[in-house]
Amino acid sequence: MRREGRKITALTAADFITTRLLDEAGMDIILVGDSLGTTLLGYSKTVSVSMRDILHHLKAVSRAKPLALVVADMPFGSYHESAAQAVRNACRMVREGGADAVKLEGGENLADVIRAIVRAGIPVMGHIGLMPQGILKAGGYRVQGRSDAQVRQLRRDLNAVARAGAFACVLEYVKADVAAKLSKKSPVPTIGIGSGAGCDGQILVTTDLLGLNAGLSPRAARRYVELGEIMKRAFERYARDVQTGNFPGPKESF
Ligand code: KIV
Repeated sequence: MRREGRKITALTAADFITTRLLDEAGMDIILVGDSLGTTLLGYSKTVSVSMRDILHHLKAVSRAKPLALVVADMPFGSYHESAAQAVRNACRMVREGGADAVKLEGGENLADVIRAIVRAGIPVMGHIGLMPQGILKAGGYRVQGRSDAQVRQLRRDLNAVARAGAFACVLEYVKADVAAKLSKKSPVPTIGIGSGAGCDGQILVTTDLLGLNAGLSPRAARRYVELGEIMKRAFERYARDVQTGNFPGPKESF
């Protein structure tokens, strides 16, 4: 797709019905991202997401049998102990969860782990720039690539991830001009989030795009619909119909 100049489309999913809809819409990549922890499970940080959480949602996504490439996020702590632990957990994503590939956050520091997973036969998507799983150390969510040193590090990270065998790499919250330059020279396609139009593809968290995020709207996301408002109005109408005896009617009764 990159060679043909076609942008790669990616969104997150965590359930069967959303996966079906994303697939019917022709999405290229469906990510079962650890953002499901904060967007759907009520955790305050993605570091709380477990292998069990991801596997549970990944199985629902896989049951929809999408044509899209299903990528499973490796959650915090599932690949940090050793390459052996990372390979073991990546294999679970494929064997138990039905993933086509896994994604993990990290650059140069994680190259050995990426290499080991790829060697085991599992495609890996990298993730550099802002890495939400490193939030405790980083101390906040900040745009990356603001200083020369950061740009150099991003370049080293992207090259290391690609050399280790990753087939693509997410660039999260990287300054748009920096992301465009990195993408041009990158050995593998880049998938941007909050990183401008110069990446080879784009990913968003689906609940952000749908307006389903309790009023919080990341600047990088475009809200294509206010689904939260639409759902609330439907719930209110149903409650009113029940209270007034308008539901069920003769057609809904047996
Ligand atoms: O967990 C997630 O949804 C992600 C995307 C933001 C890339 O990692």
